[in-house]
Amino acid sequence: MKKVLVTGGAGFIGSNFIIYMLKNHDDIIITNLDSLTYSGNLNNLREIETDNRYSFVRGDVTDETLVRRLFEQKDFDWVVNFAAESHVDRAILNPNIFILTNVSGTANLLSAAREHWENSGAYKNSVKFLQVSTDEVYGSLGPTGYFTESTPLDPHSPYSASKASADLIVKSYFDTYSMPVNITRCSNNYGPYQFPEKLIPLMINNCLSHKELPVYGDGMQIRDWLFVDDHCKAIDAVLHDGVPGEVYNIGGHNERANIDIVKTIVRYISETADPAVGEHLIKHVKDRKGHDRRYGIDPEKIKNELGWQPETGFDTGIKITIDWYLANKLWMQQVIDGEYEQYYQKIYGER
Ligand code: NAD
Ligand code: DAU
Repeated sequence: MKKVLVTGGAGFIGSNFIIYMLKNHDDIIITNLDSLTYSGNLNNLREIETDNRYSFVRGDVTDETLVRRLFEQKDFDWVVNFAAESHVDRAILNPNIFILTNVSGTANLLSAAREHWENSGAYKNSVKFLQVSTDEVYGSLGPTGYFTESTPLDPHSPYSASKASADLIVKSYFDTYSMPVNITRCSNNYGPYQFPEKLIPLMINNCLSHKELPVYGDGMQIRDWLFVDDHCKAIDAVLHDGVPGEVYNIGGHNERANIDIVKTIVRYISETADPAVGEHLIKHVKDRKGHDRRYGIDPEKIKNELGWQPETGFDTGIKITIDWYLANKLWMQQVIDGEYEQYYQKIYGER
């Protein structure tokens, strides 16, 4: 049995990951440590919440006493650190919490893991600390080329700078203490349970309520989209077979301009659910500060070394995603009943 600490498991990717792991592995026990910020949502975990291999602890990754106690009580073999402030626009408004959670939180988890694993002599066994990072740490690309694992770090936003900082601290634990670590750097995810501050669920939600679709600047910025299940499978592969100390880029060569993503969503909703939705809703608004122009992942390393392949192409994945939001309007309603409207006004009110 592998005892796994998943942090941030009530968020978008973390909850998909927990569901995926419990479905696909009999030999794991998961503890989900999540402080339930605005983006943490226990409704995401309904289908596995009674599984006796799963337990939830509400708590903060920066809480030294709590994290140490959990290691002592539960004797984790693996840590998968998803917990983060994850949204670039929020980082532009309030960078400090990104440093606290993403940098200090990661440092705190590493320190507790090291103390526990060194004291229990576990380094010789198969323990692992997996840091879930992002392609944004590499900065922005021109029209050609891809990020590889050896592309220099060049983060631009307070969010990506905090993730790059955390990556460097993780690396230092491998270099200094020989802690078995991996860092994964994935491109933009989409799929069920994504909080509607991110491009795809925000546009779906606005279509469904006939609100304007706010496209930043010219909308020609490019993101490299990956269906969330494919990200989960990649993390699973790295957890099991990743070589300690290595970084793995994750992406499926699905580069699209933002405006094309928005038009795809509009077209599908108009054809399948609501003919009143149309491109007239699109509004180009003031650009994001420091907006990265293009991301593109070279995933050859994880493909060649760990045999990972993305399975869901964008045309299928976007339909699955939109259908999920159409079938889960109550989930969305509960999510936007919180602080969402205030957030929306702050970000979009004066754009
Ligand atoms: P999310 O915002 O949906 O979820 C973050 C989760 O972390 C929430 O459940 C939240 O409650 C929890 N959390 C926040 N601060 C915490 C704290 N101090 N202590 C404990 N829990 C805390 O984010 P996501 O999109 O699921 O991203 C998860 C991870 O994947 C992040 O580390 C992010 O950097 C990384 N990532 C995201 C994407 C993407 O496209 N969304 C792509 C690559 C990497
Ligand atoms: O690349 C991986 C990263 O992807 C993750 O590390 C982050 O956690 C995740 O938030 C995401 O960052 P982005 O900034 O790329 O995602 P977002 O969905 O916020 O924006 C995607 C693109 O769409 C970006 O170019 C900005 C643009 N956009 C976004 C919103 C919310 C708009 O044009 N309008 C919008 O309203």
